[in-house]
Amino acid sequence: MIGKLNHVAIAVPDLQAASAQYRDIFGARVSDPVDLPEHGVTTVFVTLPNTHIELLHPLGENSPIAGFLERNRAGGIHHVCYEVVDIGLAAEKLAATGMRILGDGKPRIGAHGKPVLFLHPKDALGTLVELEQI
Ligand code: CO
Repeated sequence: MIGKLNHVAIAVPDLQAASAQYRDIFGARVSDPVDLPEHGVTTVFVTLPNTHIELLHPLGENSPIAGFLERNRAGGIHHVCYEVVDIGLAAEKLAATGMRILGDGKPRIGAHGKPVLFLHPKDALGTLVELEQI
């Protein structure tokens, strides 16, 4: 079902410092910050040869990552994202196993304009898993 690792998302308390670390110390290709108000985050994309790292910072009042950063003040891995070919089929198969899909259980349009879903971390080895249809 799952294909390539699309990205690992890291929530960070200071987006500028995090970008500088990846660009200047790790020597990676780093994008400018992009505000995604409908998702409550500002993101910076780090392009690696085989995948991406997505640096996430809260944007606005009710950011979905605000609580996470409160519990992880230095930042931390927030989710991993795997690619799938057919997200509707993936959602059906996962739901049939009893895994919980966050929200209303249906795929929605994610931060990259593609259909995504998130699995409940308690059903996925303590890890928030995002599936993205490519
Ligand atoms: Co993501």
